[in-house]
Amino acid sequence: MLRPMSDAEPNPTDTASTTDRVEEVVPVDVPNDETLMERVVNLSKRRGFVFPSAEIYGGFRSTYDYGPIGVLLLRNVKDAWWRSMVQLRTDVVGLDAAILSPPAVWEASGHLVNFTDPLVDCRKCKSRFREDQLEDPTTCPTCGAKDSFTAARQFNLMFKTHAGPVEEDAAVAYLRPETAQGIFTNFANVLNASRKRPPFGIAQIGKSFRNEITPGNFVFRTREFEQMEMEYFVPPDEVEHWYEYWCAERYNWYVEFGIPEDRLRMRPHDADELSHYSSGTSDVEFAFPWGWGELEGVANRGDYDLTQHATHSGEKLDYFDQASGTRYTPHVIEPAAGATRAMMAFLLAAYDEEQVRGETRVVLRLHPRLAPYKAAVLPLSRKPELAGVASEVHTMVADRWMTDYDETQAIGKRYRRQDELGTPVCVTIDFETLEDRAVTVRDRDTMAQVRVPIDDLMAVLGERLP
Ligand code: GAP
Repeated sequence: MLRPMSDAEPNPTDTASTTDRVEEVVPVDVPNDETLMERVVNLSKRRGFVFPSAEIYGGFRSTYDYGPIGVLLLRNVKDAWWRSMVQLRTDVVGLDAAILSPPAVWEASGHLVNFTDPLVDCRKCKSRFREDQLEDPTTCPTCGAKDSFTAARQFNLMFKTHAGPVEEDAAVAYLRPETAQGIFTNFANVLNASRKRPPFGIAQIGKSFRNEITPGNFVFRTREFEQMEMEYFVPPDEVEHWYEYWCAERYNWYVEFGIPEDRLRMRPHDADELSHYSSGTSDVEFAFPWGWGELEGVANRGDYDLTQHATHSGEKLDYFDQASGTRYTPHVIEPAAGATRAMMAFLLAAYDEEQVRGETRVVLRLHPRLAPYKAAVLPLSRKPELAGVASEVHTMVADRWMTDYDETQAIGKRYRRQDELGTPVCVTIDFETLEDRAVTVRDRDTMAQVRVPIDDLMAVLGERLP
């Protein structure tokens, strides 16, 4: 069925100058520093992962748009999370709550008072900083002035707006700074509708907004971003067990999808770092080019949120356990991840270079589940003879997997483009295909090629692709 192509065999899909020969590959050591960051940011722009927002107007303050490839990668990150956290479990259900919410929610949650960062200005150059992020709190990092900072002011990070045409106090609304509160305010609705009982979780993916004082490092810290959060409601005496459980689960999720363990760690928060609602938090951290940075926080929120909302709304937000005849307010373990930040970490971890026949091959070794395109269908030439069978193959493969179709440029260049997009397999149609109804399947990581009858193609791809 499969006919492996030996190295000695001339490969119909390669041009003379771009033949991939496995034995001529020399790995390149790409250091995890600002040069990696530069390479990934450039690749993101060049290949359509991430563009600066409103670029034709000079950009807009650390805001980004996800291009044709980035939208696929980001969606795959979110789908991989949803699959692990909801689809494959019997104890978690989903939710998609509103982004706009009334002040009452944020008063109860404590965000109106507590969701603040300490803001300082340099009196000399007028630069603004978060006081807690200054390496030396006496010296301005921009102009070097000594003791030039104003006293710190607590700056609330929530975006405030007005619902309706009149900008009056009664119409004030907030863009949510976390998706979590939509879960807490729907606790009773979901409990009644889903017939789940603790321990059970409610998961949500969606946009959140924070008026960050110092956004930066590409999409690491932005004012508009996407979160993947799950609130796991447990009996109070099980809270420690579930905290440990979710710390391990979430760490392993990043490993499963390609983050090497030497670039990943769990870091418990010191007492003075804890959020106002948390009695214990551990961060999953990734070794970014500038140092360790948070990917996700796993927090023990106790019964803080349900109790606050019950008190402020007057509604009962507890659980009656029929078996024991007791009523209690569940405690909550919350794994809270950033989708856009995770996407960036997967990109950085997947970026690789090697020398092939003296030329640099850039390849994104993304997990196949995360890869934007799972396959690319590449007719060797634009000649009309190949168009019919190429379109037939594309239709067949695209019906099951996100598939690119590219008939421009030399085949070697097209392979390199797909390598840069992280496409796990390329399917090449050549003139022999017209005679033997077989195609060449090329592997992204090894560049090995096999000839496969079209009739077997879906089965062969099915062994490699999720
Ligand atoms: N509900 C809990 C909560 O929101 P958080 O640690 O503030 O916790 C969770 O946020 C995750 O959201 C972070 O670990 C990070 O991945 C992501 N995140 C937070 N602020 C962000 C920002 N300004 N830009 C991008 N991602 C952000």
